[in-house]
Amino acid sequence: MEVRILQVGLGLLFLLAAQHAPAVAIPSPQCQKMCGNVEIEYPFGIGVNCSLAPDFNISCKEVQDGIYKPFSGSMELLNISLTHGTVRVLHSIPSYCYNTSTMLMNVSRFAGIDKRGTSFRFSATLNKFTVIGCNTLAYISDSNGTGYQSGCVATCTGPSALTDGSCSGIGCCQTAIPRGMDYYRAGFAKGFNTSQIWNFSRCSYAVLMEAAEFNFSTAYITTNKFNNTGSGRVPMIMDWAVRNGKMSCPVARRNESGTYACLSHNSDCVNSTNGPGYICNCSKGYEGNPYLPGGCKDVNECNQSPCPSRGGICHNEVGRYRCSCKTGRKFSKQNNTCDLDNGLIIGVTIGFLVLVIFSSSGYMVFQNRKMKKVKQEYFSQHGGLLLFERMKSERGISFTLFTEAELIHATNNYDKSRIIGKGGYGTVYKGIIKDKMHVAIKRCTLISERQKKEFGQEMLILSQINHKNIVKLVGCCLEVEVPMLVYEFIPNGTLYELIHGKNRALQISFSTLLRIAHEAAEGLNFLHSYASPPIIHGDVKTANILLDENYMAKVADFGASILAPSDEEQYVTMVQGTCGYLDPEYMQTCQLTDKSDVYSFGVILLEVLTGQVPLKLEGADMQRSLSSNFMSAMKENNIDALLASHVKEQESTELIRGLAELAKQCLNMCGANRPTMKEVADELGRLRKLALHPWILIANTESESLLDGASSTNGFEIDVATTTGYPTQDGDNAPMNPRSLYYAR
Ligand SMILES: *[C@@H]1O[C@H](CO)[C@@H](O)[C@H](O)[C@H]1NC(C)=O
Ligand SMILES: *[C@@H]1O[C@H](CO)[C@@H](O)[C@H](O)[C@H]1NC(C)=O
Ligand SMILES: *[C@@H]1O[C@H](CO)[C@@H](O)[C@H](O)[C@H]1NC(C)=O
Ligand SMILES: *[C@@H]1O[C@H](CO)[C@@H](O)[C@H](O)[C@H]1NC(C)=O
Ligand SMILES: *[C@@H]1O[C@H](CO)[C@@H](O)[C@H](O)[C@H]1NC(C)=O
Ligand SMILES: *[C@@H]1O[C@H](CO)[C@@H](O)[C@H](O)[C@H]1NC(C)=O
Ligand SMILES: *[C@@H]1O[C@H](CO)[C@@H](O)[C@H](O)[C@H]1NC(C)=O
Ligand SMILES: *[C@@H]1O[C@H](CO)[C@@H](O)[C@H](O)[C@H]1NC(C)=O
Ligand SMILES: *[C@@H]1O[C@H](CO)[C@@H](O)[C@H](O)[C@H]1NC(C)=O
Ligand SMILES: *[C@@H]1O[C@H](CO)[C@@H](O)[C@H](O)[C@H]1NC(C)=O
Ligand SMILES: *[C@@H]1O[C@H](CO)[C@@H](O)[C@H](O)[C@H]1NC(C)=O
Ligand SMILES: *[C@@H]1O[C@H](CO)[C@@H](O)[C@H](O)[C@H]1NC(C)=O
Repeated sequence: MEVRILQVGLGLLFLLAAQHAPAVAIPSPQCQKMCGNVEIEYPFGIGVNCSLAPDFNISCKEVQDGIYKPFSGSMELLNISLTHGTVRVLHSIPSYCYNTSTMLMNVSRFAGIDKRGTSFRFSATLNKFTVIGCNTLAYISDSNGTGYQSGCVATCTGPSALTDGSCSGIGCCQTAIPRGMDYYRAGFAKGFNTSQIWNFSRCSYAVLMEAAEFNFSTAYITTNKFNNTGSGRVPMIMDWAVRNGKMSCPVARRNESGTYACLSHNSDCVNSTNGPGYICNCSKGYEGNPYLPGGCKDVNECNQSPCPSRGGICHNEVGRYRCSCKTGRKFSKQNNTCDLDNGLIIGVTIGFLVLVIFSSSGYMVFQNRKMKKVKQEYFSQHGGLLLFERMKSERGISFTLFTEAELIHATNNYDKSRIIGKGGYGTVYKGIIKDKMHVAIKRCTLISERQKKEFGQEMLILSQINHKNIVKLVGCCLEVEVPMLVYEFIPNGTLYELIHGKNRALQISFSTLLRIAHEAAEGLNFLHSYASPPIIHGDVKTANILLDENYMAKVADFGASILAPSDEEQYVTMVQGTCGYLDPEYMQTCQLTDKSDVYSFGVILLEVLTGQVPLKLEGADMQRSLSSNFMSAMKENNIDALLASHVKEQESTELIRGLAELAKQCLNMCGANRPTMKEVADELGRLRKLALHPWILIANTESESLLDGASSTNGFEIDVATTTGYPTQDGDNAPMNPRSLYYAR
């Protein structure tokens, strides 16, 4: 199979090459290859019909008797790099000297290079505009100074102020230039009074030059000589590219007139990074001149001894290499070693793998096409078309269908550092969409065939859920095998961390916890009442209650519930929910109902009351589960032992009893006897109000009032303010029980 694809791929390449061959002139073998000790490689050439374009025409001049040097235009050429698309040239240094304090004398006050309309650009990455002097303002600009103009100021008070190797404004200044420049002019601002410095610094210099070749020396100022190459000229890097027609790679490759310059097989087109056009590179595993037919030759990787030194044998192949090991040893790809082995000839297998990985470009093209098709298939498989249609007809849905590439970019290719959550269900990454919007991207582990088909439909329902206590689903990606969900990013951790985490030290007040629980209940109630049949969360737990900037509760992960399997067989393979929170009835019937969420919420109430985790992994079996401990304590009418000390000491027995009773109802073994989420939310609201009444009485006897943590900047510090009016209704600004003051401080 693979061999055939390869053949097709190569055949295609030959065909393409054949199409191009007659149109592009090929330099004759008589063309001069060397000038002095510089190799002139095509597309550059010396003389008629030897270069690809007039821009690449090099003249080889005799500079002294018998010494020849190559010139491109008026600039001496030092080096040509085909792989980087650069040339190194020498050019003279504009300078400005003064010999008395008042008389100004310019050696060459203006200088510039004009490469407009050519294939050359000044490299913006490798060059710097460099200015040397002690009372100097030099400027650089494009052709008429209207497009680009910049300057650099170098000053110094005396020779002692200068430092070797440091170019940061004292005697020396450097600045970068923008991309795309093909003309530059450097000049000096005149009229600077040099009377204070002329006795130790008599010249200023300003030149665009290769940054790596420059190292400031105080001698440049004190000896009045900036002549680091000994020729009065400095090296500069120019980017070149095939710019005829200003074509980018895709256009050039398709070009009918056959001017595509990458003539060699196994060559790649690379867009120029500086201006229009492109350069050619040999593909990986090949080296040579991609501009000549057959120019890219196989690299003999074995010369670099890439295989294990002990027992390894390197086999060079066209475009790649493979390693094998002497008999009796096995190849470890991880360590790149040949380990003693009693097993199989793994080297062959590895060799085959290397073969597959480094397979030819023809195969890659095929792969790409296949990938695109696969993506489309996934998209429609997941109901993407339906979703797309509905989104078009129902305007105003703020829901995005992301491409796989967008999510890869947003998560930096699923970088490990971006992981914010991990579990049986999959992995959650933090992502940044379009470089500004922070999102949480959930990559599920697997879903069933049935769910795949209905995914688009489900997404449509979920995308319309809009409640202040529910994390918003902003989009999804259907192009992948297992769809990915994109949620808004909620920054302040979870209720779990608040109750059990290290941040416990932040001392959150009980009334704030109660508010968060109430908000979570409201969110779940909304989910249950939004659609029919109800949207069941399926994994209610403190870790799924996120906290926003204001420490307001946001129920997360509800999308998972819809993916929850309904038949027993799937249950075995994919356990939803979390131990310690699981509805015992669900365990028996495998039927997830809205009351399963109520049960789990009961466990949350217990965590709030007791500060304990739902399931302790150490300790005697009997004491493991928080809910069973609580239920037996309720039976014995002895829940005090379970309560967190601050709750016991500071909260009214009425409130505690009310919450315990509510939790008990939620934890009823029989789902039908549990209250609905609405009843739970209402009761929590009532209990919170109840907590306010004693406060109003006590508050009148104290001179301070308190604002809820939610309204303070960090959510935990309790602002002590003297306010006159007390809010009477609950809500975000509900005052907290003053007795929590002692706990909170
Ligand atoms: C250069 O090429 C042109 C067109 O192919 C041809 O007519 C001309 O004779 C060539 N000149 C030399 C010096 O080879
Ligand atoms: C290159 O320059 C030489 C002189 O140095 C000139 O004779 C020749 O025509 C030029 N070739 C092209 C392609 O411009
Ligand atoms: C040209 O550049 C290459 C790679 O940057 C380098 O190895 C070579 O020494 C350079 N040759 C000259 C003459 O500078
Ligand atoms: C300043 O330069 C001018 C021109 O080169 C020269 O004639 C004059 O002697 C110089 N003055 C001093 C003080 O060096
Ligand atoms: C100094 O530069 C100005 C402006 O380019 C020019 O007119 C003048 O002739 C120059 N003077 C000397 C001494 O080179
Ligand atoms: C200055 O140069 C830019 C680009 O080279 C050109 O578009 C513009 O018309 C020029 N302006 C003047 C006044 O010459
Ligand atoms: C620059 O030159 C100084 C001495 O003049 C030397 O210590 C330093 O290492 C040089 N830096 C570079 C980057 O070459
Ligand atoms: C330059 O400055 C000195 C003192 O700092 C002053 O005496 C002299 O007149 C100034 N020259 C000019 C041309 O302004
Ligand atoms: C240069 O001249 C100034 C005043 O004209 C003086 O203060 C300074 O010490 C002199 N520097 C040197 C290195 O001679
Ligand atoms: C630069 O130095 C070389 C040798 O040291 C010398 O021949 C040349 O004249 C100097 N050039 C300038 C502009 O100072
Ligand atoms: C080259 O540039 C074109 C147009 O800007 C773009 O469509 C193409 O993807 C680029 N190709 C590569 C290989 O970057
Ligand atoms: C890699 O080498 C280390 C010791 O250098 C060895 O412990 C380990 O087992 C090797 N791994 C494999 C896969 O052979």
